[in-house]
Amino acid sequence: MRRGFLGGTFNPPHLGHVRAAAKAAKELGLEALYVIPAGIPPHKELPEGGAAGDQRLEMARLAFRDIPGLEVLDWEIRRAGKSYTADTVERLLSEDPEGELWMLCGTDMFETLPDWYRGDWLLRTLHVAAYPRKAGEEARIDALAEEYRREYGARTRRIGVRALDVSSTELRELLHRGKGASLLPKEVYRYILKNRLYAVRPEPDALWELVRPWYKKSRIPHVEGCRRTAVALARRWGADELDAENAAILHDITKKMPVEEQLQYCEKRGNINFSYHPEYEAALHAFSGAAAAALEFGVSPEVEDAIRWHTTGRADMSLLEKIIWLADYIEPGRTTPGVEEVRRLAESDLDEALRRALKNSLRHLEEQSWTPHPATREALAFLCRGEVGK
Ligand SMILES: [Fe+2]
Ligand SMILES: [Fe+2]
Repeated sequence: MRRGFLGGTFNPPHLGHVRAAAKAAKELGLEALYVIPAGIPPHKELPEGGAAGDQRLEMARLAFRDIPGLEVLDWEIRRAGKSYTADTVERLLSEDPEGELWMLCGTDMFETLPDWYRGDWLLRTLHVAAYPRKAGEEARIDALAEEYRREYGARTRRIGVRALDVSSTELRELLHRGKGASLLPKEVYRYILKNRLYAVRPEPDALWELVRPWYKKSRIPHVEGCRRTAVALARRWGADELDAENAAILHDITKKMPVEEQLQYCEKRGNINFSYHPEYEAALHAFSGAAAAALEFGVSPEVEDAIRWHTTGRADMSLLEKIIWLADYIEPGRTTPGVEEVRRLAESDLDEALRRALKNSLRHLEEQSWTPHPATREALAFLCRGEVGK
């Protein structure tokens, strides 16, 4: 039988890995291909704050699930002590001693192969398929292949695959800066967000793609308007633009969700100082939205708070909270009486804009004989105290 395997830390698995595996399986005519995430790799120390073994295993399952005949094996993750490819190869060979076994590896691994534990044995025993990790590495692979053929009689082959010009280290760095989603399979990116791996910050466009189905079609223009307004306000007032954009994208995500489900999110999140009461139903989606944003998309506590207080406001709001509250109030689709004035004020005096908008909201609620949430009165009282003190 002709089988192949691809090892690595997969921290995280990215499109470069997936493309190489798919191409190799096809070019080599493999009947089976195994992806084997390493336990404690002998070649490099795992960075701190990275993913645990089980998480890397799960990400690998998500990343490679569309390749036919591919199986993700947990052998090295489960094995105590350091992972040695030689041990894995022995086990694979024992299953099919007469078969042909191919090892897939990127240029960096291919380069160091002779220095691995029992490297010369590996080079004599295995077939090796190397693929470029970065553009322009083809010549280097061919030169090494020639050298290994001469020295070890190695049977090697270069896999032609479009390289991904990024290392896992660089990729983790990108994720932390709110970028890099396009380099990952969608499901892997979703998993990283949900589990908040690598201190990831959502990339707005990728987040929007994931979140869109949560919204009713009719709400989309409001969220898009809110997103643009939040970014503009963040830029004007020196807040974190990425946080503002992500908070706006997520702020109404539970709006079409049944009350029961919303309450489940609140309960699961567990840190919400909010006893649900039907008279405050309008505020529930903000609390459940914050909980869902944290649980499903791994947002930071600052973003979670901005979503939680976007309907009621509260005393002593952070800059980001004010921006999201106001963006929701003044986005271009809003036609509430007095909104024009608040829009103008938001350019020159953020607190005054908020004060004016809170007053408008409270008046509107009174006119409708609705009970305002206590946090809204507290928000206004806090801002007015500041006014007196000026
Ligand atoms: Fe809302
Ligand atoms: Fe909204």
